Parts: sequence; C-alpha cells; structure tokens
Amino acid sequence: MKEKLNSIRQSALEQINQRDTDNAKLEEIRVKYLGKKGELTAVLRGMGQLAPEERPVIGQTANEVREDIEKAIAEKKQSLAAAALELKLKDEKLDVTVPGKKSKIGHIHPLTLVQRELEDVFIGMGFSIAEGPEVEYDYYNFQALNIPENHPARDTQDTFYITDDKILLRSQTSSVQARVMEKQKPPIRIISPGRVYRSDAMDATHSPLFHQMEGLAVDEGITMGDLKGMLETFAKTEFGEDTKIRFRPHHFPFTEPSAEVDISCFMCGGKGCRLCKGEGWIEILGAGMVHPNVLSMCGIDPEKYSGFAFGMGLERIAMLKYHIDDIRMFYENDVRFIEQF
Ligand code: PHE
Repeated sequence: MKEKLNSIRQSALEQINQRDTDNAKLEEIRVKYLGKKGELTAVLRGMGQLAPEERPVIGQTANEVREDIEKAIAEKKQSLAAAALELKLKDEKLDVTVPGKKSKIGHIHPLTLVQRELEDVFIGMGFSIAEGPEVEYDYYNFQALNIPENHPARDTQDTFYITDDKILLRSQTSSVQARVMEKQKPPIRIISPGRVYRSDAMDATHSPLFHQMEGLAVDEGITMGDLKGMLETFAKTEFGEDTKIRFRPHHFPFTEPSAEVDISCFMCGGKGCRLCKGEGWIEILGAGMVHPNVLSMCGIDPEKYSGFAFGMGLERIAMLKYHIDDIRMFYENDVRFIEQF
C-alpha cells in the first residue's frame, strides 16, 4: 500500500513538473489523482481492507501524498502565471532609445505667413482684428462706403451677385469698415484681413478670389500725418529700415483725400530694377481719410471725429516679398511651391 502511494506521488509530481504542463493539463492531473474517481481517492477507499494497526500509518501517508500533490500543483500554477506575466512584459517593452517616427508637418501657406506678419505689425501699433462676412450686403460693400447705386466706381469692382442686387460676394474688405463703425464708437483701431472676390479673368496678376487687409482708425483729431507715420512704420517693419514711402493723389469714393501709396523698391533701393520696372517705387496699397459721408452714414459725427483707412492686397505683398511672378501659384497647392516657405 505504501509503495502504491509513493508511486502515485512520484508519477503525479513528475507530470506536474514537466516543462510543457500548462493550466489545462494541471487540471487534468488534479482530476486524475485527487478527483472523486482519482487514483489517490481509490486507495483511500480501499483502507477498509487494511489491518487496523496499518490504517493510521497509511492514512497519514495518503494525506501527505495529497498535500504534496496539491502543493506541487499550486506552485506550478504560480510559476505559469509568473512566466505569462514576464512574457507579456517583454512583449510590451518600450525601447525609449529607438528613434521616433517623424510625422510630416505641413508648411504655412505664404499668404497665411504674410497675413500673420502684417497682423503682428499692426497689433503692435494698437490695432485689433475685426472680421466680416464674405457674402455681403450691397449696402456694406458699396452704399455705406459712399458708392450709391449706378455710381461709376462700381464698374471697377464688378463682383459676383448672389441675389439680383442686394447680396454679393464682397469685392473689398472695406465693407468691414462700415460694419465696425456702425457697432463701435470711437476710438476705433482695427485691421481686417480676408477674402474678396471680383469677376476678373484669371491671369498672372489677376484672380477672381484674392485677399486684402483693411485698416481703420477713427478718433478725435486724427490727421493724414497719423496715416503717413503709421504706414511708414509698417513699411519699414515689413520691407526693411531703409524703406521710404510716397503718397500719390488718387480717388476712392470712401476716402477724401485719397492716395495710392508706394514704397521705395527694396531690391534696388530706388535706383530702378526689374522688380520695380525701372521706377524705383512699388505701389502697395490704397489709403485716405475716411469720407465724412461714410462717417455720418455709420452714425459717427464727422464734425467731432476723423479717421484714416487703408487697404492692401495680401497676394501683392507676398509676391513682392518672395519674388513670386504668377498669382496662380498661391491657389494651385503644388507642394513644390508651398514647401519653399
Ligand atoms: N478698398 C480699396 C480697394 O479695394 C482699397 C482702400 C481701402 C482704399 C481703404 C482706401 C481706403 O481698392
């Protein structure tokens, strides 16, 4: 009997400790030896046939065998769990010394670049940014800017009408001037960048969609000297310390007096070159003193307040700055172009 028990223990332990024993196999082994119909159980059942003095000895041995088997199973289970954990840890190990995957970051579009630059310059001079809709009322795009219906100035900015004559795609960011002045009382100092539309055919210097940046300052005692000083600061910041500016008389219905503003050519310093077409000067924007009619239409007393306004094309500034000779490059999204900025 005792030998039988010992051999049960030995074979059970051998099976438990085999390398390929897994949890399922352990359960099989447990049932095989310790289960109701298991080998050890069978031995215990046969105890009745033993001589009374043998029973305690065999009984004790049987208990020891069961304990040993149970202990071996528990230990194996534990080592299986530890091995599984180790495998998992190894599998999920993160090597922080491996070079990271570089994600491709895009480039800032040259127009955005110029817009941000200009915003910085004007914010530095106390302006804040105002926005207006691209789909605009005829009223804000024309009428409130002293361009009544049938005014010939409308011809120079023919645009896209959404409805018969009331709603259109704005042809200039000057529409934002009227919107701001209606809502806000002086002092006013805003810039307004954004898209504008004109029904022009596309060529190297024209596009039916382009970008402008408007500027407006209204307060007591604002003069053309303020406009000039502010534009000079802008020109020097944007095109270099040596840049000079020049005002040429012009006409805009919403400013009086009006001017076209040139900067001295930053390529040749004013001597005349390919960029300035031999002129020494480059036109960059339109400006003037806000027309009294515009002020009063927007509810601002022209006797008390005066203001200046200016507007420039962002494409034009970007083309000058980066020597881009075809406006279409901005809209084609050719990465070979965009990547250069
Ligand atoms: N809105 C004018 C244009 O598109 C530019 C401008 C703005 C002129 C403000 C004077 C004052 O041509």
